[in-house]
Amino acid sequence: MKSLEESYNLFEKKNLQAELGGGPEKIAKIHKSGRKTARERILSMLDPNTFVEMDKMVTHRCSDFGMEKNKVPGDGMITGHGKIDGRIVFVFAQDFTVFGGTMSRANADKVVKIMDMAMRMGAPLIGLNDSGGARIQEGVESLAGYADIFYRNVMASGVIPQISAILGPCAGGAVYSPAMTDFIFMVKESSYMFVTGPEVIKTVTHEEVSMEELGGAMSHNTKSGVAHFAAENDEQVVLMIRELMSFLPSNNMEDPPMQPCTDDVMRQDEMLQTIVPADPNKPYDMKEIITTVADNHNFFEVMPFYAQNILTGFARLGGKPVGIVANQPAFLAGVLDISSSVKAARFVRFCDCFNIPLITFVDVPGFLPGTVQEFGGIIKHGAKLLYAFSEATVPKITVITRKAYGGAYDVMSSKHIGADVNYAFPTAEIAVMGPEGAVNIIHKGKLNEADRTSAVNSYRETFASPYKAAELGYIDEIILPRQTRVKLIQALELTQNKSKTNPPKKHGNIPL
Ligand code: HXC
Repeated sequence: MKSLEESYNLFEKKNLQAELGGGPEKIAKIHKSGRKTARERILSMLDPNTFVEMDKMVTHRCSDFGMEKNKVPGDGMITGHGKIDGRIVFVFAQDFTVFGGTMSRANADKVVKIMDMAMRMGAPLIGLNDSGGARIQEGVESLAGYADIFYRNVMASGVIPQISAILGPCAGGAVYSPAMTDFIFMVKESSYMFVTGPEVIKTVTHEEVSMEELGGAMSHNTKSGVAHFAAENDEQVVLMIRELMSFLPSNNMEDPPMQPCTDDVMRQDEMLQTIVPADPNKPYDMKEIITTVADNHNFFEVMPFYAQNILTGFARLGGKPVGIVANQPAFLAGVLDISSSVKAARFVRFCDCFNIPLITFVDVPGFLPGTVQEFGGIIKHGAKLLYAFSEATVPKITVITRKAYGGAYDVMSSKHIGADVNYAFPTAEIAVMGPEGAVNIIHKGKLNEADRTSAVNSYRETFASPYKAAELGYIDEIILPRQTRVKLIQALELTQNKSKTNPPKKHGNIPL
């Protein structure tokens, strides 16, 4: 029989073993690479003293390749729950010091357990990933573990927010679960995502590519659109996750968290009066409108480096979280193309899942013409945004600041696809196309230069304004730019009890 002292000592020993993971040498290597350990990451992300670890003593059950002699309590996966700003979240973090943070059957079971709990309790799930993928020694058992997680990612999608941070080299299976979550954070120059690494690529396709170029933070933030955020280091990631969480409800049955508004809800901003240039071909920065209007000028941008012709992100108006989608005339004239349509569509669907009202600022010359776009499937990708806005039942409020041309007018949360309140600035131009294009088609080859200029001016007078749309009731109100904040806050109040449901169905068939 063990004495009490022996029992407690054994407990201390096992705890220490679990907390040391792969041991001091491997921890030092992690620190040297500029990363934090899994445990440090969790503790720095959560409110102090709120982390409760689960399954700390779980070990792998593999007996091939001499693995039975190499067991670490916890098995390289730390799981549990804690709080962010006083609200419960579930969290897992892969410990790279233990078998490279790889996925075993046993540690997959730990993740599955907290995923099921997060769903039952209606609390968000945050994954801090740093893993070499499937634990090769475990073969198909590891694949099974991954699949169990993937399946739950899908079941949890739209029920609880799921957030992933990529904090080291993540390969193979380690990237698919994050891909199915709502937001992916990466760290510049220390995190990587790829299905197959540079060595395999070299063998199969003879391409030579560096880790950074293939799967670094900026590649996925600027080129592939896989990641949503790029941070400078691990510390910044956790701060950004905490900020993102402040806009999100814990689950799809809750409203997003209100905060006391410390900004004047009646604030009128004179600078907005001159922000849209008189010359319709001159760019301006839509972000200035957003930051001017938002509470405390705070705009938490999502995917700031990707498809910059459209802006997506969160802000508060009168203390209430909103999702903002806005064409950006300062980049490619704010045109809709494949990348911007897909970026915005996914964001709109996220907001709709989680009861976050949508504010849309419109200044769009249309869809980008050309073979690259047509062959790339702009028709189906553009349709994604149309689909997403149409199916969204959250409050939808639209402000047309300047151009709203052609199909893009319809797509950008127009009255016709269910927007609740539609405003336009006096500078708005709502028409089938721009005056030049319209005159070229209507009077093709029939006008000299002088007559053409006069026809363009006359078209602009008659059609390129908000008045035709306002006469037809497609715009509810023409507002002065300086009133934007007040009007948006009023519209949010008006729509706060909105009740709208789409026809019952198993699920729609968004053009993927
Ligand atoms: C078992 C692994 C491993 C793996 C790494 N390790 N990957 N052990 N299975 N998949 C171990 C290493 O042996 C090493 O153990 C420790 O983790 C750290 O790895 P290093 O290579 O020393 O680290 P580093 O140089 O930083 O490189 C990290 C890495 C590299 C880029 C992740 O290890 C790598 O390329 N690993 C293989 C990645 C991969 O191909 N995964 C795909 C698996 S298949 P010691 O004991 O020396 O510390 C897959 C399919 C799933 O995931 C599909 C589901 C849909």
